[in-house]
Amino acid sequence: MILPSFLSASKPLLDRYSSDVGTKLRLKYQPYYHTVEAREGVWVTVKGRRLLMMSSNEYLGLSRHPRVVRAARDAIETWGTSPCGSRLANGSRAIHVALEEQLAEFLGVEACHVLSAGYLACMGSLSTLIRRGDALLVDKSIHSALWDGALLSGATLERFNHEDMADLERLLLALPAAQGKAIAVDGVYSMEGHIASLPRLVELAEKHRAITIVDDAHGLGVLGRDGRGTVDHHGLTGRVEVMAGSFSKSLASTGGFLAGSRGLIEYLRSTCRQIIFSAGLPASQAAAASEALRVMVEEPEHRARLLANADHYRAGLRDLGVDFWDSPTPGLPIVLGDKEKCYRVWQALWEEGYFTVMAVAPGVPAGRDLIRTSVTAEHTTEQIDTFLLTLRRTLDKLGYRRGRLH
Ligand SMILES: Cc1ncc(COP(=O)(O)O)c(C=O)c1O
Repeated sequence: MILPSFLSASKPLLDRYSSDVGTKLRLKYQPYYHTVEAREGVWVTVKGRRLLMMSSNEYLGLSRHPRVVRAARDAIETWGTSPCGSRLANGSRAIHVALEEQLAEFLGVEACHVLSAGYLACMGSLSTLIRRGDALLVDKSIHSALWDGALLSGATLERFNHEDMADLERLLLALPAAQGKAIAVDGVYSMEGHIASLPRLVELAEKHRAITIVDDAHGLGVLGRDGRGTVDHHGLTGRVEVMAGSFSKSLASTGGFLAGSRGLIEYLRSTCRQIIFSAGLPASQAAAASEALRVMVEEPEHRARLLANADHYRAGLRDLGVDFWDSPTPGLPIVLGDKEKCYRVWQALWEEGYFTVMAVAPGVPAGRDLIRTSVTAEHTTEQIDTFLLTLRRTLDKLGYRRGRLH
């Protein structure tokens, strides 16, 4: 068949997609989008090969916990597979409200709202609570979920150096006293593993009458009493206006939440576009998050094992002379400092049977290209030790001097 000429003519946008260098490189080297064909605990199968997962966010290892699985199954039986609608219209279910009350009590706040993704929760908080004319001060390393909300908000953006409270204070001092101000940070930074310096930050926020927004996707389940997160870890419950979080890490589900005062949550329910124009969280995921939260409190051994594993792994990395960016949490980067090194180490580890994830600039600051690794409650000491031995051999073989790797 002869194609009509309009179909064969090139279109600028289609040409852009097909000539994109990033996509070409990704397809050539294939470092991302690996399809796991089977999973058993910390072991995954990719293209028929068993690999040890060394980069999971399932910190507490609860996604196959019998209670969590049963809760999700029962919820599907009761509620079906999807609410098929926005919470505002026809998608609100009793299971959402129960999870919101459970979370609010756990976090020590008045109210909560659950959404179908942590990404939407973070984006929705900033895009709704801050607007043109306000000043939004953010740490340079915040996750894209907050960034995208910041951009949508239309506020004047001020970026302070990562974890630099003096820089934050300098920016605050330069702003007019009467201007609306907000400070947004991650509770635990996903790539660096750093814990936000909230005590000083909250002090500055109170002094300069700014609201504080904390994305605690990686703090919940890891830090604080029974895993209440970074705000609790610092003893600041009640002094942070907005907590955002995800169910896709420690709580072994999907979805996210916003937590704060009742007035603030009700305001979000009537104005936040990410809440209003997106379907509610499936009941199975609400039930999984809810049961995982209960398990986390009733079975503290999972968190204890996570923290012990993280300490053991961190000590091993320190012995190897690996730069792990002084991460005090279970997310422990191997900072290599350039893309090429990252790719070579990542590939060698992959060939040795380890699943890790590369994060290169601009996803991380230039010169801090890294391989993100993490341990979970499910890893054994032997698995961590074997990984460390392989890492040592890999770095030696590639000639990457240990001590300072870049
Ligand atoms: C710091 C941080 N915030 C937010 C999110 C988004 O969470 P979710 O996976 O629930 O959309 C993530 C997930 O990658 C994250 O790491």
